[in-house]
Amino acid sequence: MAAKKTRKSTSTPSPTRPARPSAAASVPAPAPVVPAWHVAPDETKAWRRLTTLARKGRSMDLRKAFAADRTRGTRFAVESLGIHLDYSKNLVDAATMDALFALASECGVARHAKAMFRGEAINTTENRAVLHVALRAPKDAVIKVDGCNVVPDVHEVLERMERFANAVRGGKWRGHTGKRIRTVVNIGIGGSDLGPVMAYEALKDFTRDSAGRSIECRYISNIDGEDFHEKTHDLDPEETLFVVSSKTFTTIETMTNAQTARTWALRKLKDPAAVAKHFVAVSTNAAEVSKFGIDTANMFGFWDWVGGRYSMDSAIGLSTMVAIGPDGFRELLGGFRDMDEHFRTAPPKKNLPYLLALIGIWNRDFLGCETVAVLPYCQYLHRLSAYLQQLEMESNGKRVQLDGTPCRWQTSPVIWGEPGTNGQHAFYQMIHQGTSPVPCDLIAFAQPLHEIGEHQDILLANFLAQSEALAFGKTPAEVRAEGTPEWLVPHRTFPGNRPTSTLLCEKLSPRMLGRLIALYEHKAFVQGSIWRVNSFDQWGVELGKVLAKRIIPELSGKAPSKAAHDSSTNALIARYRAWRGR
Ligand code: F6P
Repeated sequence: MAAKKTRKSTSTPSPTRPARPSAAASVPAPAPVVPAWHVAPDETKAWRRLTTLARKGRSMDLRKAFAADRTRGTRFAVESLGIHLDYSKNLVDAATMDALFALASECGVARHAKAMFRGEAINTTENRAVLHVALRAPKDAVIKVDGCNVVPDVHEVLERMERFANAVRGGKWRGHTGKRIRTVVNIGIGGSDLGPVMAYEALKDFTRDSAGRSIECRYISNIDGEDFHEKTHDLDPEETLFVVSSKTFTTIETMTNAQTARTWALRKLKDPAAVAKHFVAVSTNAAEVSKFGIDTANMFGFWDWVGGRYSMDSAIGLSTMVAIGPDGFRELLGGFRDMDEHFRTAPPKKNLPYLLALIGIWNRDFLGCETVAVLPYCQYLHRLSAYLQQLEMESNGKRVQLDGTPCRWQTSPVIWGEPGTNGQHAFYQMIHQGTSPVPCDLIAFAQPLHEIGEHQDILLANFLAQSEALAFGKTPAEVRAEGTPEWLVPHRTFPGNRPTSTLLCEKLSPRMLGRLIALYEHKAFVQGSIWRVNSFDQWGVELGKVLAKRIIPELSGKAPSKAAHDSSTNALIARYRAWRGR
């Protein structure tokens, strides 16, 4: 893998950082300087305007808005790359949208995006560039980090991945005893799991090769041993290949699962030399990979400028590539690239990521919505909301600004969701009639992959009916007109004016999936940029990891339980030990 070239610091110094020592270096880097153009949102004129507009927005009546403007459904909609985004059923009018575009402009989103695409270290707390866009750049592109073009390294790894994926798919790469690999098990967590598993589920229909064969992929993430058991109990080690995926190669869940996998495999294969045929690694940390016992010849690298939650199109996508084949993976990358270009070049008014982001800011900061439901009307996307939870909440779930001062505004909402129509029979009740408005992204594909009876029309009718019902509701008068007894009227009334954004896409494919995921990546970017947080670190996950390490020996009985915690944690540890006979 990677960097043969000496990375000299020849690039123009980033406006966001004064120096380049790593965050891990012993001498701490000086605090980054937030450039003057990166204005705090509440210091903009647009924010003040939006605060005034919010009063109107909160009482907006979508029935009246649609009646007053017969073109609203097409005026508040854009279409690009086979994605039709209709945001007309949000509580916005032209003045609101103008103020939102002005907000993005005053907050310097476009300059910030340019800094990202140029490879500047916009991840200031870790002093790193943020270059997931380089992962899908064409071979002849030039994207520099510290003066060194990273694109050749990206393609070198991609080509190695392709050779590997072809060998596994074609049966050239065999297990230690000469058997064909039938199952690939990815071991990883967070960004080293959620993207690959989401993509595998989404693209299952694209996994067969020309002979109709496909390699099954499974994903072990949880430290819960039950996950390991369930994913392996019916597998034959001779036909199983593990991909140990971890950016850092130090994550306790992944390392524990990988050790367990080695023990599991060697129980049958006996010979430690078998590890070379049944384990490959994906990581940025060659030293740890080697320490673990995986030959770095079987390692696929990536770089510190790829965040975990932005890594599904790096080597972390190795299982995706084995599943859908190198051509499919190239299509997926092509989709990401299409959206990068769109994001870079389309004016904000026609720009899908900008629009989704700005509508989200409006709902979160001005209408006070605390959650967003992502509701794909496509079973293949059943892991999408789990994937987006990490993408958006780990990126923008921050409480301080880039300069460390507290945010005076709300940042990431809770992201959640399930595929329609399943969700309709579970939690939509609350979305229609609950006390907290939940903005929804409804996503569907016009063309099904499998035309089966009337299914697609029924599915899409539900998709459309929900946004209609959420927007326009049902008035008490309409309920009464149906002969409903008066006491039942409030129960059967739908207030309406529940905001939804509708994404109607042409057809699911690797390319379309790439476009959709990049759309949400850039949405998170625009929001983080406006909220003026660092969307690319995740310090908030560290404390729990440290405390868990301290508690492990106390649970196992290796360390005495010294009543070292608070009374609640002490009592729970004591109860656990008692029930475990320790
Ligand atoms: O703990 C959070 C996190 O660091 C995520 O950001 C990351 O995607 C995940 O853990 C897994 O990390 P790694 O790929 O280094 O094992």
